[in-house]
Amino acid sequence: MSAAVDKSEARVRQMFGEISGRYDLMNHLLSGGVDYYWRWRTIRAVAPSGSAPILDVCTGTGDLALAYWKAGRGQIPVMATDFTPEMLLLAEGKRDRQYGKRIANGAASLTFVEADTQKLPFEDNQFQIVSVAFGLRNVTNTEVGLGEMIRVCQPGGRVAILEFSMPTNPVFNLIYRNYFKYVLPRIGQLLAKNKQSAYDYLPASVSEFPYGQQLADKLIACGLTNVTWTPLTFGIATLYVGQKRPAEITPPLNS
Ligand SMILES: C[S@@+](CC[C@H](N)C(=O)[O-])C[C@H]1O[C@@H](n2cnc3c(N)ncnc32)[C@H](O)[C@@H]1O
Repeated sequence: MSAAVDKSEARVRQMFGEISGRYDLMNHLLSGGVDYYWRWRTIRAVAPSGSAPILDVCTGTGDLALAYWKAGRGQIPVMATDFTPEMLLLAEGKRDRQYGKRIANGAASLTFVEADTQKLPFEDNQFQIVSVAFGLRNVTNTEVGLGEMIRVCQPGGRVAILEFSMPTNPVFNLIYRNYFKYVLPRIGQLLAKNKQSAYDYLPASVSEFPYGQQLADKLIACGLTNVTWTPLTFGIATLYVGQKRPAEITPPLNS
């Protein structure tokens, strides 16, 4: 039996700190650029509206947060959190290069904050959308992370989770498993030069993390309603969407 993957906060933070400089390159390269499409699908399925802010947790180098800011036409504030400062520095650089002028000229804010998803520094019921892309799997305690995402989401607001999964087609599944297990870690190790074998961690963490109906059941158990899940690109990734229950409407006394 294989040992469980070490997902302690210290190990995860150190690993992402070490690969941060090559993270974007590796991401686009190893996914063949499909990651852009996955983010686009997320934003299309869970589109922003109104003026309430959006939160992207485990934001890494900020791509989903940037995409949400753009989808809100620079009029909806976006908050993005991660506990690895090296990743956040890169995210801030991208924000400044892409939207710095517009933000300085009065567009909505796009703020990166160092925070653990298991202990978010926000009041309850703040955000119209709480998103996470390829981050939930890395959070040490999935239920605590999900609980925090739901706590800060507005009643009736949506939680969007983009995460790796395994293809259901048996032939494609076999090819993908071999690519994931043998090819990807070698390319990753070579390019990212990471001591902690981040690209061994990737297949190991994906294969032990629930996906499909199992993860959907977890979302429901954590309190989300109207949960849907949509496999993307032969099931390599899956988009999960759930809604926080609308606030109970208490009829006024003596009505
Ligand atoms: C695979 S990266 C994903 C980054 C980005 N969302 C993307 O789609 O490219 C995972 C990120 O989750 C962050 N992370 C993992 N566990 C976390 C936690 N408990 N709290 C905050 N960030 C965490 C890591 O620092 C890393 O930046």
